[in-house]
Amino acid sequence: MYNNRPILQLPDYLINQIAAGEIIERPSSIIKELLENSIDANSMNIEIYIDGGGIKNITVIDDGMGIPHNELSLSLQRHTTNKIYNLSDLRNITSMGFRGEALASISSITRLEIISRTKKDNHAWQVSNTDFLVKPWQGKVGTIVSANQIFDNIPARRKFLRSEYTELAHCITAVENIALAHPKISFKIYNKNQIVKQFLKTDYEQRIYDILGKKIQENSIKVSMSNEIMEISGILSNNADINHKHNYRYLYVNKRYIHDRIITHAIKTAYSDISYGRQPPSFIIFLNVDPDSIDINVHPTKNEIRFLTGNVVYQFVLKAINNAISSFSIKDIVAHKEKSDNQEESINRVPEQVSMDYTYSNTESLELLTVSEDVNDNKEHPLGLAIAQLHGTYILAQNSSGLIIVDMHAAHERIIYEELKDSFKSRKIQTQKLLSPIISRTKEKLVQLLEEYEEWFNMLGFEIKPYTPDSIAIYCIPSLLSGHDVDNLAIDMLEELSSMGHSILIEEYSNRIISTIACHCSVRANRKLHINEMNALLRKMETTRRSNQCNHGRPTWLYWSLKHIDKMFLRGQ
Ligand SMILES: Nc1ncnc2c1ncn2[C@@H]1O[C@H](COP(=O)(O)OP(=O)(O)OP(=O)(O)O)[C@@H](O)[C@H]1O
Ligand SMILES: [Mg+2]
Repeated sequence: MYNNRPILQLPDYLINQIAAGEIIERPSSIIKELLENSIDANSMNIEIYIDGGGIKNITVIDDGMGIPHNELSLSLQRHTTNKIYNLSDLRNITSMGFRGEALASISSITRLEIISRTKKDNHAWQVSNTDFLVKPWQGKVGTIVSANQIFDNIPARRKFLRSEYTELAHCITAVENIALAHPKISFKIYNKNQIVKQFLKTDYEQRIYDILGKKIQENSIKVSMSNEIMEISGILSNNADINHKHNYRYLYVNKRYIHDRIITHAIKTAYSDISYGRQPPSFIIFLNVDPDSIDINVHPTKNEIRFLTGNVVYQFVLKAINNAISSFSIKDIVAHKEKSDNQEESINRVPEQVSMDYTYSNTESLELLTVSEDVNDNKEHPLGLAIAQLHGTYILAQNSSGLIIVDMHAAHERIIYEELKDSFKSRKIQTQKLLSPIISRTKEKLVQLLEEYEEWFNMLGFEIKPYTPDSIAIYCIPSLLSGHDVDNLAIDMLEELSSMGHSILIEEYSNRIISTIACHCSVRANRKLHINEMNALLRKMETTRRSNQCNHGRPTWLYWSLKHIDKMFLRGQ
């Protein structure tokens, strides 16, 4: 079709429009680029004016270093930048921009005006893309960039924009995404000259609350870890309400807001250990790495990066999140809840209830709840001392400041899970040979799967072999399981394996299977416990990692402070 046409060099305006097509999807993309320029210019105060959802006008005013007047017109040309000069700079990017094409792209799809003044200038200078002439102007040190009539010259693009309201929301989100990682800079957002949001200079934590609201703090876990080459900080929020409605996922690498599968997967994997099948938490994570170890030049919008050593980053993030989850002790939570009870005036929320449908089994071994001598001592324990059992399901305990309600099955399940996982990791699972093998009939598909995983079952303390094409034989089990219904357990494990597919990591396999075992072996509801057993369980919970949630993500215990109970009875009011 084109074989009779000569090859020609494209004119600049067309090149710029093609580039703009990649960078500027909608008005909010312009805001992102302008804010990044202001940040690179060391601005401390940035104001963003939006009109008509950003379609009519976007103006960004900063108090940064300004653009020298002899470079003003050049800044609108493509591939002009003061951020990198050579290949080694490109490999070591510390600024937000570096491609030297944002202003040229914006200029190709808007009417653009820049007013700028450096500290050395006596007055400001102005340039616009109508004549590209630099003229003396009035103005303070810093830069004002104003983009009007966005996409007016590209009706096809314009057609795809949504309502003013939706575009405004995108614009505000673009500011927030950047503001989260720059708490030392103040941001003010105006819509039609009315201030709609302002974020004053503060620290990271306060900026998160200013943007996402205080609720994100409830049930949140702080993440913080560093080594010689990387550091990570941020928070994970278990607030069910927030996770359900928003599921915030903010990921920053060297303060750049990015999407990254490696880090997101590491966070999900760490969390899968405490909440199978549940939504992962909301997170705001800041990762700082050596600029040399990443490549930002992956996508024109610069919101993706490539790690040179992705696996090292994955392991680092996984460890940091795991540490954060396990170091959040029961003591911290009780203290936190007491504090928030004191702060909040009215709490009418009925704590989440857990409904379970388990049947009573007399044959369960008591061994699982080994009672040590000192479980009934008079020491002050975070989860207090047991006082009663409620409907064979919950343990009621009191500490010096309130009432604790423990879901005994959920709590015990977590304890067994962590113990099994530790012994599996250290290869110290004690096994017990059965006097006669247990034969169970099952689907042929599962018997075949067993052949594939036989060795792996051995590592978990089982000796299970195919018996006939549609039955399996269990010869040996982990000692911890003696007295339990293991034939169903073996089939459940195989079912679980067959549903998982091959894509997940071996550690994830093991954890899920260990979780199935833990669920089978923990004390069932309706089992009467002696007060010593209840205290033994409480003490175990206090020293077990992640014992605040069972392996399915349900809470294992709730706490009502006396203050809160007094309030419910309107005492002292
Ligand atoms: N607000 C500002 N304050 C000071 N200098 C600015 C500002 N905005 C732009 N500049 C100057 O104009 C140049 C061109 O900006 P532009 O955004 O097009 O490119 P860049 O930021 O270098 O790279 P990228 O295309 O990746 O954003 C910048 O390199 C910078 O020198
Ligand atoms: Mg830029």
